[in-house]
Amino acid sequence: MRVDLALIGFGNVGRRFARLLNELRPRVLTDCDLETRVVAIATRTHGAAFDVGGIDVGDALVRVEGGRRLASRLETAGQPIAACDVIRRMRQSDAALRVMIETTTLDVGAGRPAIDHVTTALDSGCHVVTANKGPAAFAYRALRDRARTAGLSFLFEGAVMDGVPIFNFVRETLPAVNILGFRGVVNSTTNHILTALEDGDEFGQALARMQADGIAEADASLDVDGWDAAAKAAALANVLMDAGITPHAVDRAGVGPESAERARAAKARNERLRLVAQAERDTSGSVSASVQLVELPARDLLASLRGTANALVFRTDVLGEIAVCQLEGTLTQTAYALLSDLITVRRRHPQAPDAAPVRRNP
Ligand SMILES: NC(=O)c1ccc[n+]([C@@H]2O[C@H](COP(=O)([O-])OP(=O)(O)OC[C@H]3O[C@@H](n4cnc5c(N)ncnc54)[C@H](OP(=O)(O)O)[C@@H]3O)[C@@H](O)[C@H]2O)c1
Repeated sequence: MRVDLALIGFGNVGRRFARLLNELRPRVLTDCDLETRVVAIATRTHGAAFDVGGIDVGDALVRVEGGRRLASRLETAGQPIAACDVIRRMRQSDAALRVMIETTTLDVGAGRPAIDHVTTALDSGCHVVTANKGPAAFAYRALRDRARTAGLSFLFEGAVMDGVPIFNFVRETLPAVNILGFRGVVNSTTNHILTALEDGDEFGQALARMQADGIAEADASLDVDGWDAAAKAAALANVLMDAGITPHAVDRAGVGPESAERARAAKARNERLRLVAQAERDTSGSVSASVQLVELPARDLLASLRGTANALVFRTDVLGEIAVCQLEGTLTQTAYALLSDLITVRRRHPQAPDAAPVRRNP
């Protein structure tokens, strides 16, 4: 089945996704009957491109990585075209399925413009796959309901713990189980920094490594000030516990150079300092969430996480405590989460009307 894609955001994650799609193309076609074509790309500073016949993705990668603008760029009166206008053009596609892959920058003010991209995509008949935490952290209920009404999917597995299934794990494998709460290490940059600090490294060097690897947010203060973890905690609480909160309701702390002394002192006591995101439902039914630096006994699963490793421990009513762990977090893991969601869209729509054969992206 042919699926046309709009890549909204073409940064570290968007470009790794484009490459992974190409690397796994034969397997995805054979195993999942999924043949993709990129027809739209939108960025903030590298312009936008739309071609209903398919964009040359290889050329787009070379251009953007060379600091140049996209070819066949869309402009009105010399002004760059907004991403939402690019998304609306997806109506021109005659593919069996149309999917927006949203990987724009996280905005912890209000989750915008990612939320606008999601609503525009749903209103234009596109399924939504995103690695951006903003939509689920700020507007989950409204976007879920909008997608349901339109008969479309709104998926965001890459928003928390990259390619390791969290939302899929609960949705697909824990029927009739209530999530009562969770605690976890969910930010790779701060966990790498904390383990480096406890080993005697400097804060600045540890952060620079995460920036060089493309793992830190574009604005690294979102990681070190705890905003990324707070957005993940809100998204998890909203989706898994119907919390209806935003990241601003999360009691939040971060990591700084001053954390070094505390991390080393904890290690000397056979404890580990970790940035722990958690949420609990209280007796009144409301959910409270926090992101705090916590000294944990070395035997605690979260204390054992080093570098970019992440884990989430769920407290459930039927299964007690269960944990999901990711030992390595890289851009490939995040890109895989997008691919996995794309395949989920395909599986949910086995009967989508077929269209003309796809012209491959070079
Ligand atoms: N990096 C990771 O390991 C990771 C892991 C999980 C989730 N995420 C999430 O994935 C998303 C992307 O991360 P990233 O590392 O790829 O960020 P990035 O490298 O900064 O890329 C962001 C992309 O979004 C584009 N963009 C920003 N605002 C836009 C707008 N208003 N309209 C159109 N395009 C816009 C940027 O355009 P320009 O190219 O012109 O700047 C860029 O192409 C973020 O939400 C992040 O939280 C990242």
